[in-house]
Amino acid sequence: MSQLHHYLTFPKRPITREGYLPEIQKLLSAGVPATYTLEQIAAFEQGREDEDDPDVSNTTPLHVMARSLPRDLSEVEEQVVLDIMNVLFEYGAGWNFIDYEQKTIGDLLLENGQSRDGPLYSRLVDAGVSAELLLRKINGGEIEFIEEPIGAVEEAPAEEDDVEPDVQQDMPQGTSQVAPSASTDQKSYLESKLEYTKDSLVTDENRDGVMMDWETAIMEKAAESICATENATVVNIGFGMGIIDTAIQSRHPKTHYICEAHPDVLKKMKDEGWYSKPDVVVLEGRWQDRLNELLDMGEVFFDGIYYDTFSEYYEDMLELYDVIVGLLKPGGIFSFFNGLGADRPLCYDVYKKIVDLDVSNYGLRCDYDVLPVGKRNWEEVKRSYFNCDYYYHPRISFG
Ligand SMILES: C[S@@+](CC[C@H](N)C(=O)[O-])C[C@H]1O[C@@H](n2cnc3c(N)ncnc32)[C@H](O)[C@@H]1O
Repeated sequence: MSQLHHYLTFPKRPITREGYLPEIQKLLSAGVPATYTLEQIAAFEQGREDEDDPDVSNTTPLHVMARSLPRDLSEVEEQVVLDIMNVLFEYGAGWNFIDYEQKTIGDLLLENGQSRDGPLYSRLVDAGVSAELLLRKINGGEIEFIEEPIGAVEEAPAEEDDVEPDVQQDMPQGTSQVAPSASTDQKSYLESKLEYTKDSLVTDENRDGVMMDWETAIMEKAAESICATENATVVNIGFGMGIIDTAIQSRHPKTHYICEAHPDVLKKMKDEGWYSKPDVVVLEGRWQDRLNELLDMGEVFFDGIYYDTFSEYYEDMLELYDVIVGLLKPGGIFSFFNGLGADRPLCYDVYKKIVDLDVSNYGLRCDYDVLPVGKRNWEEVKRSYFNCDYYYHPRISFG
């Protein structure tokens, strides 16, 4: 293992195919693992890792490679590094491990001057997409998307300490190993009490953030996208704090449907007069029921559809795509709150591509606008749920 690690620190420049590939290939084919071994994971979990012994240190060959990548890599060298990555993936290297510095391979590539659309980072994202799609197949269609990277001991961003990041919030990503709670199980959520605070909507018991006002700029952008035409007929799924619905109203749509399932939120909507607005139609209940009714009626079609719920999984979104294709007008726009994988930039990029691939199966295309994300205030919630400084705003339409 240490010999493989040694090669991946690129001790000889220039990096040539002959200088590296045969040796790396030889080591891998001799059984040197391309990624963690189970023993290493066990050692790490039991705190037995030995920093002096690279065989049991919490890193992977791809991390070593990415950390050692010279910043002045020539194009020819870059191609060799890409070949090395290909060989490591061929021998089973994992794409989503994090190392002793809590970094993904993607973090290290970007730190070392690689760009998000460069060949090395793209290769890593492609490996993530393939692995996730394969996992979906193995699970017989059941989605078990991007689980927390092995070894993850998540930390909130420095200025947002004391808050536990939550990959389960807004769009939970893993269905396994998660005890049912309001943030992971729709039934529990719909039965839980909610509380509106000064700048958020939280579950009463666990203080899970259902919606927070730092998302206002994102919601305004989304309203702009889905109300792109005059006299638009639009539907927003998930009222929450009504931020996007207020932004939609300011664009004077012809008809504005709002689908909402939680009784406490529906009460808030009543109290605030949403039920009596002339151009608003409130669809009480889960979108799974209410939008399917509209689909069956075949009378209402939308220029814009927005989706932002809570305690649902990517699996639910895949079901939603079936409804979207039936309800979206040609030229219409579908968008959603994109927190998919946003606990880590690499996972966020993998999801970005997966959504693109999934909607393309329906003859839809997904374009993304990149928006800056300012300071997020996690004071009122137990867990943070968005850890990237930028937001991929999706605009999905019939290509
Ligand atoms: C994140 S909030 C929406 C925030 C909203 N975009 C805003 O601008 O304030 C999610 C909302 O979706 C609702 N919701 C969750 N699951 C739902 C479902 N299956 N159908 C309809 N609404 C749902 C929740 O009760 C909650 O009000």
